[in-house]
Amino acid sequence: MEQLHIIGSDRPLKGEMVISGAKNAALPIMCAALLSDETLHLSNVPMLRDVATTCRLLADMGAKIEQDGVSQIDICCKEINDFRAKYDLVKTMRASILVLGPMLARFGQAQVSLPGGCAIGSRPVDLHIKGLQAMGADICIEHGYIKAKADRLKGCRFVMDAVTVTGTENLMMAAALADGETVLENAAMEPEVSDLGECLIKMGAEITGLGTPTLRIKGKEKLHGTRHAIIADRIEAGTFLCALAMTRGQLLLKNAAPHTMDAVLDKLTEAGMVIECGKDWIAADMQHRPNAVNIHTAPYPAFPTDMQAQFMAMNCIANGASTITENIFENRFMHIPELNRMGADIMFNGKTATVKGVSKLSGAKVMATDLRASASLVIAGLVADGTTIVDRIYHLDRGYEHIETKLGNVGAEIKRVKGG
Ligand code: EPZ
Repeated sequence: MEQLHIIGSDRPLKGEMVISGAKNAALPIMCAALLSDETLHLSNVPMLRDVATTCRLLADMGAKIEQDGVSQIDICCKEINDFRAKYDLVKTMRASILVLGPMLARFGQAQVSLPGGCAIGSRPVDLHIKGLQAMGADICIEHGYIKAKADRLKGCRFVMDAVTVTGTENLMMAAALADGETVLENAAMEPEVSDLGECLIKMGAEITGLGTPTLRIKGKEKLHGTRHAIIADRIEAGTFLCALAMTRGQLLLKNAAPHTMDAVLDKLTEAGMVIECGKDWIAADMQHRPNAVNIHTAPYPAFPTDMQAQFMAMNCIANGASTITENIFENRFMHIPELNRMGADIMFNGKTATVKGVSKLSGAKVMATDLRASASLVIAGLVADGTTIVDRIYHLDRGYEHIETKLGNVGAEIKRVKGG
């Protein structure tokens, strides 16, 4: 198994980093290609494991996919002949559930393996199912599969019990081809949901309310192909800024989307970072040890759960004590024991962790458990004494494009090694 070897140092990070397209926008938008028999031309697509998995999932159904292997992917779902998303792929990527809505809306049938839980929580999909049933779908769960049928989905008003990102995305895609208008209340407002909505509108969908808790979608008979550039990854950008907060120095992030990062940039400013933003760039300067900051995760526009582990790492070496409350997922603290092995002083009880800042971490062999936990271990390794070896970095490769190259280009000593 591959590992990352990180040699910690006091050297500040300095230089420019180009932010990739957002994984959590690319995945639903790739699945939106199922809604049309014309080609979806996507640019600024991050070349990640999850993107490759989604390509395989769609190709297994009959989609024709062309990619330049850098950042362009063309997807044509004119000849879909298999309406199943099989367990062996779905179990590696929960976001496979995003084929359910579009497949049901366009073809009237879909069989999607239940994704099952993952390291950070049980990850139910009951709201995806309830919403499609409210649109008239006939759905049963058999042998671990969601089996769905519908002559034609009908628009309806559906109030989501919980704010669910992929639930909102699945239902918005389904509603785009339904008969009549659908109103989704308590919808997710994440920028990735809005980016999917913008792409659907370019495909001919009629959607209003993007970025608000109420989405109105007027169903169409047919959607056409289009060209779309994936929005910048606010979580990748936030991860690199947390690294800067820990190492000090100056970074210029290009191809970024600062307007989607208010909660994160506010917290970094509170930690003592000086930040200047333009339309698509962020200039950040950190001259001293970060101040500890308290974090409460919540749906957008509040502080994102996907940045919780990275701020935990920053708080480990910050001035003072802090509390971090994880309100979205029930098991998203698995980075704590690994950070404590590096000399951090973190205790947690239920949803809240208390972090006492220490002056120095020490390098250790640590294990990645999930995507963002892996990122927190990498950035902790940048400032730890000695070498940190992060194992099971396939988790990291799901959501970060060439992380060791990008960090190496701004002064980190980090290399990918074929594991022992
Ligand atoms: C998306 O997951 C993201 N993944 C996650 O990013 C992100 O952490 C999460 O949203 C929250 O922002 C993608 O977009 C591919 P949810 P999702 O449905 O949609 C409950 C990463 O690191 N819920 O918004 O699966 C659920 O239990 C990943 O990039 C139900 O109860 O998350 C959770 O408590 C990790 N029933 C809450 O809603 C449902 O039917 C939010 O989950 C669906 C969700």
